[in-house]
Amino acid sequence: MPAAVLVGAQWGDEGKGKATDLLGGDVDYVVRYQGGNNAGHTVVIGDQKYALHLLPTGILSPDVVPVIGNGVVIDPGVLLSEIDGLAARGISAERLLISSNAHLIMPHHKALDKVTERYLGKARIGTTGRGIGPAYGDKIARMGVRVQDLLDPGILAKKIEVALGEKNQVLTKVYNRRGIEPAAVLEEYLAYAERLKPHIADTSLVLSKALDEGKFVLLEGGQGTLLDIDHGTYPFVTSSSPTSGGACAGAGIPPNRLTKIIGILKAYTTRVGSGPFPTELTDEVGEWLRQTGGEYGVTTGRNRRCGWFDAVIARYATRINGITDYFLTKLDVLSGLERIPVCVAYDVDGVRHDEIPMTQTDFHHAVPVYEELPGWQEDITSAKSFDDLPPNAQAYVRALEEMSGAPISAIGVGPGRDQTVVVRSLV
Ligand code: IMP
Repeated sequence: MPAAVLVGAQWGDEGKGKATDLLGGDVDYVVRYQGGNNAGHTVVIGDQKYALHLLPTGILSPDVVPVIGNGVVIDPGVLLSEIDGLAARGISAERLLISSNAHLIMPHHKALDKVTERYLGKARIGTTGRGIGPAYGDKIARMGVRVQDLLDPGILAKKIEVALGEKNQVLTKVYNRRGIEPAAVLEEYLAYAERLKPHIADTSLVLSKALDEGKFVLLEGGQGTLLDIDHGTYPFVTSSSPTSGGACAGAGIPPNRLTKIIGILKAYTTRVGSGPFPTELTDEVGEWLRQTGGEYGVTTGRNRRCGWFDAVIARYATRINGITDYFLTKLDVLSGLERIPVCVAYDVDGVRHDEIPMTQTDFHHAVPVYEELPGWQEDITSAKSFDDLPPNAQAYVRALEEMSGAPISAIGVGPGRDQTVVVRSLV
C-alpha cells in the first residue's frame, strides 16, 4: 500500500503543514525522516494555530500515529516541552513513536553550533543555532548518542564522557568557552529517558508491517530541496537530506514502497539564512511579499528573504525528487499584482542557463531571466475549485505547472484547513 513523501521544493517553509493536514483523513502514519527542531510547521485548525518543530504534524489528528524516524536528530528537552505544550491544549502525544536509531542533540552540539557560526563571521551559514549540524557531524563521525542509549544508563554515561572528553577540549581550547560537566548532562538526559521510554520503538519494523497491512504512511520532510546536504546550495544548507531519496534512509523503508512524491511549492520563493537566492527582492516589493505572506520564521522568528517564483529551481526539484504531484501554496498572496515576474532561466556572465549551474560560483553569479505573467485583482481566498479562480490565476498555475514539469494537484488559497483547491487527488 502507499507510502507518500512530502518534500519542500524550494528552501523550506513552503507550507508543508497544510498539505499534511489536507491528507490527514487518509493517512495512518506520519513520519518525520530528517532534520530536527530547526524545522517549523504551522497548522491552522479553526481559530487555533499550532507551530510544530519536531513533532510530525500527524500529532494533531487523533487517528494518526506520529513517528520520528531514525534520520531525525532529537533535542529531548525541546521534544518534551512541545509534547507538554500540546497537552496543555488538550492534544495527547501518547501515540508518538520515536526510532531507537535516531540521534540525540546534546548540549555540546548547541554550544558548538553557536560558537562556530560566530567564528565564521561573514561566512556564516545562518543556522538556526539548534545544534543540528554538530549533531549530524557526530553521527557521521560515529561519535553520536542515540535514542536507544537512553535505555542503558551505563552506555549513556560512557558515551557522554567520551564525547565531552573531546568536545570540551574544543570548546575550551579552540573557542575559549567553558567546558560542559558530564555528570550534569547525564542527570538531565536520564530524566528525559524516563519520560521518553514508552515512545521508543523499532519504527522501521513498525512501518514495514503497517505497509504490509495496507496502511497509508506519509513521510514528511523538514526544510527543502535546496537545503539538502548533497543537492542544495552547499555550504548554505542543512546537514541532512530532505529530498525524496533521504526519505527512505531516514524512515527505514525501501524506495520501492514509495508511490507518490508530493512537492510543496510556494507561488513565490523564500529563504532563511545565508546563501545564494537569484530571484531575491531586496526592495519594497520584497517587503510587500514578506508582509502579505507573513514570511517570518516559525522557529527563529527571523525575517524570511523573499523573491519571485523561480522555475529553474522548480524543474530541479522535480528532477531530483521525482515529483509526481505539486501542492502549490500561498497563491492568494499574489492577488492584487498587475504583472507577476517568473524566473525562467539564469544569465551567468552572459551565458543562458536553463538548469541550475554546475558550480557554486556560477550559481552565485546567476541573474534571473524573467517572463512576466498577467496578475489578477480578485480575492481568491474562498475559491473551492480550479474554475473558481480568475482566468489569470488559472493561467499562472498552468504556466508554473508547465515550467516545473510536474502536475499541480492542489492549490493553497489561504492559511485555513479548508482553503485548498484540489485539482486531483493526492492519494
Ligand atoms: P541548520 O539546519 O540549523 O543547520 O541551518 C542551516 C540552514 O538551513 C540555514 O540557512 C537555516 O536558515 C536553514 N534552515 C534550517 N531549517 C529550516 C527550515 O525549516 N526552513 C527554512 N530554512 C531552514
